[in-house]
Amino acid sequence: MSAALAGVRIVVSAGPTYEDIDPARFLGNRSSGKMGFAVAAEAAARGAQVVLVAGPVHLPTPAGVQRIDVRSARQMHAAVLSALPCDAYIGAAAVADFTPRMTSPQKIKKQAGQETLMLELVKTSDILAEVAASPQRPRLVVGFAAETEQVAEYARDKLLRKRLDLICANQVGQAGAGFESDDNALLVISAEGQQALGPASKQTLAGQLLDLLAERLA
Ligand code: C5P
Repeated sequence: MSAALAGVRIVVSAGPTYEDIDPARFLGNRSSGKMGFAVAAEAAARGAQVVLVAGPVHLPTPAGVQRIDVRSARQMHAAVLSALPCDAYIGAAAVADFTPRMTSPQKIKKQAGQETLMLELVKTSDILAEVAASPQRPRLVVGFAAETEQVAEYARDKLLRKRLDLICANQVGQAGAGFESDDNALLVISAEGQQALGPASKQTLAGQLLDLLAERLA
């Protein structure tokens, strides 16, 4: 295995976040964490010093990786910012965009005859955009964009809006790609152009993505 990233400090976020409604219920999403864990594993194998901020997933910690487990978007935000400074931040987590305004300390009971329940949600902090705007901005800030339609257009918009160096777009809802699959296909977009990676295993794609990062960090 090459040591192309020897001494480089990389922070990776992976997995979903769970936003608690009450002690029994939460809002989550279908991210498995596999893509981010594969990136962390490959980066460590190439000699990088890797911090992996992981949402609630059932995956073993890759060899040589420092793992910080979190549950909510708020916890992920705190863990990622406290892991700065670094050379590259790779935001592969599917962070909740909204969280309940209040978490009920008791299980919410349905009332007799109740037909609807209103949950008020408030926006979470955009971790990726904050890292990119931070005075401690890493040299490379990489985002992921899972989309169901107009994949390249929405991703390019995020690249500019969040001031990223690269964005890895993938289409969710396709067989053999996306959230729960072992395989994926990525469209890696930068200000200079775009490059299609895969379809391939998430491990192979992680290696190809890190090759691009190593070139840019060199
Ligand atoms: O805007 P959208 O959520 O689709 O952007 C996805 C990218 O932004 C991912 O890289 C994700 O990790 C990051 N993100 C974040 N904090 C949020 C929402 C998304 O870091 N609150």
